[in-house]
Amino acid sequence: MNELEISILTPKDWERYKCVRLESLNDSPDSFGSTFGEEAALSDSEWQSRLDLKSRGLDALPLIAEINGQAVGLAWGVIHAPDREVVHIYQMWVSPASRGKGIAQALLSEIKAWALGSGCNLLALAVTTSNAAAVRLYRSSGFITTGQPTPLRSDSLLMLQPMVMTLHSGE
Ligand SMILES: CC(C)(COP(=O)(O)OP(=O)(O)OC[C@H]1O[C@@H](n2cnc3c(N)ncnc32)[C@H](O)[C@@H]1OP(=O)(O)O)[C@@H](O)C(=O)NCCC(=O)NCCS
Repeated sequence: MNELEISILTPKDWERYKCVRLESLNDSPDSFGSTFGEEAALSDSEWQSRLDLKSRGLDALPLIAEINGQAVGLAWGVIHAPDREVVHIYQMWVSPASRGKGIAQALLSEIKAWALGSGCNLLALAVTTSNAAAVRLYRSSGFITTGQPTPLRSDSLLMLQPMVMTLHSGE
């Protein structure tokens, strides 16, 4: 594989972020609670401020994966205060042409390292139960199911299963 580069998105990257996020929502509508229509309606300044973690008082790790400067993946780790022990994973997506090459695994590793460095002891996410690739990704990475599935959206028959992975410092 050509060199994979994973970097942290900052407000100046908002156009790249907007582009890859909208691509992910368009490509995988059943994987995310938000819809392409909802996010396509956001203004440029809203996209920019999403990445302005300081102004939002948000402790988060917004990651973009690129190969030869082309965006091929996205994932966020977010700590929701006051519970500073848990990192929630959102927006995980890898472009169809780049799947099966370990990119999601690499994004997860970065988030896990950041979570450990932030003193967190749990990774948490929710995955659509019918999404076999993502369920297998998370299971093989060490996530286990927890709690009951809930609807993806109020108008959806798809169900979201919460999953968690306990972290041990020193890993
Ligand atoms: C799920 C997704 C992120 C996986 O990305 P990826 O970069 O292809 O995954 P990786 O190559 O890192 O694979 C890691 C592991 O995931 C599992 N996996 C990935 N794709 C799979 C597939 N199509 N079928 C079965 N298992 C799969 C495997 O266990 C794999 O490990 P292995 O290759 O050693 O068997 C990607 O398919 C995707 O973006 N799907 C649409 C969006 C989505 O579902 N996001 C998740 C929201 S919770």
